[in-house]
Amino acid sequence: MSNVAVIGTQWGDEGKGKVVDWLSHRADVVVRFQGGHNAGHTLVIDGTTYKLSLLPSGVVRPGKMSIIGNGVVIDPWALIQEIDRIEEQGVSISPDRLRIAENACLILPFHGELDRLREDAHGDIKIGTTGRGIGPAYEDKVGRRGIRLCDLFDPSELESRLDATVSHHDALRRGHGLVLIDKPKILADLLAVAPRLLPYSDTVWRLLEKERHAGKRILFEGAQGVMLDIDHGTYPYVTSSNTVAGSVAAGCGTSPKSVGYVLGITKAYTTRVGYGPFPSELSDATGRMLGERGKEFGTVTGRRRRCGWFDSVMVRQAIKVAGVDGIALTKLDVLDGIEELRICVGYTFGDDTLDYLPSSPKTQIGISPVYESIEGWAQSTQGARSWADLPATAVKYIRRVEELIGAPVTLLSTSPEREDTILVRDPFAD
Ligand code: IMP
Repeated sequence: MSNVAVIGTQWGDEGKGKVVDWLSHRADVVVRFQGGHNAGHTLVIDGTTYKLSLLPSGVVRPGKMSIIGNGVVIDPWALIQEIDRIEEQGVSISPDRLRIAENACLILPFHGELDRLREDAHGDIKIGTTGRGIGPAYEDKVGRRGIRLCDLFDPSELESRLDATVSHHDALRRGHGLVLIDKPKILADLLAVAPRLLPYSDTVWRLLEKERHAGKRILFEGAQGVMLDIDHGTYPYVTSSNTVAGSVAAGCGTSPKSVGYVLGITKAYTTRVGYGPFPSELSDATGRMLGERGKEFGTVTGRRRRCGWFDSVMVRQAIKVAGVDGIALTKLDVLDGIEELRICVGYTFGDDTLDYLPSSPKTQIGISPVYESIEGWAQSTQGARSWADLPATAVKYIRRVEELIGAPVTLLSTSPEREDTILVRDPFAD
């Protein structure tokens, strides 16, 4: 029996929510290890829809332990709001079921402000961030001036930590012509929210060690996707954390060996929110049709997602850099009824042919996709629960995807409903 890490292999929004929920049913502990409330995971359980951003997907299931690791950046007010909202839906989120790493960094109001201000000022090179302050909060963390959850235990320590952060931000704000930070207000607001947050605070590395020793099954829940990884993604059009499975260990304080199986969530076509290169993007009627059928609007910001054909070169690369063992293929039914499908199998750049996505943004923008045509299927695949329910041409599409990306389909999701899932191999059993 092994622990499982779930990550996205494209630009996020691959349908991780459903798969994580499906797996969390079989796990004892669910851990978030990177990102923040830029993520949006939608779970549909017994007809009720839960929208989670920061809370691990295990919270909606009784008896599961949910953990927010130190690699996550936490907006205290957004977290409290999310807890209150989910509790209003009848789910109890008590400190014995949710633990938060005391060494996790906080997102403060001026992080969000700076994030949005930069986006407005960037003109042609907008990133298209979620505006939640994720990037500026990670910058402060790496700059060693972040405010961490444990700082809230000690008001005088908090005040001196805030001095360092505020003096850095005030210098930036002066340059941008913004009013300076009202430090006493931030301090008072943090001290006011502390009693709500601190009961969840824990030494997560110790807790995880204990759970591992007790033989508990752990599910590490990634957010975003490999192509949004700060190192391996389409930089600078990326998020500010490492989204690859390699960040599990650092993001919650556990051994890299604690992950036995890496499941890469992969959509049967490609989408992206925000700006940046997208070689197989379709700006035509087919692209719009994929968006409408796939309900491709952002969970967090409501933005329309850009859509395109499946890019096997990009997914193969994501699988290699992130150490993916097998994929969960989602939203195959969105391709139902399309006569001729296309899969991107390579790129050209000038006279060169490429079998990988190079790092230079200029090349990433300038490359053209090389497509392979593949016959579509007329029948519906929605709700299929066994391979026998799938048209032969759909199976052929899946087999070709596996061949091109060099990884097997471990699980196939055929609708947002939890039961509409075909399991090829149990990732926890490896
Ligand atoms: P940030 O994470 O808010 O800084 O945004 C950086 C980039 O990552 C932008 O292109 C966002 O649209 C994208 N992004 C961040 N979180 C998600 C997500 O959960 N799904 C898809 N894209 C995301």
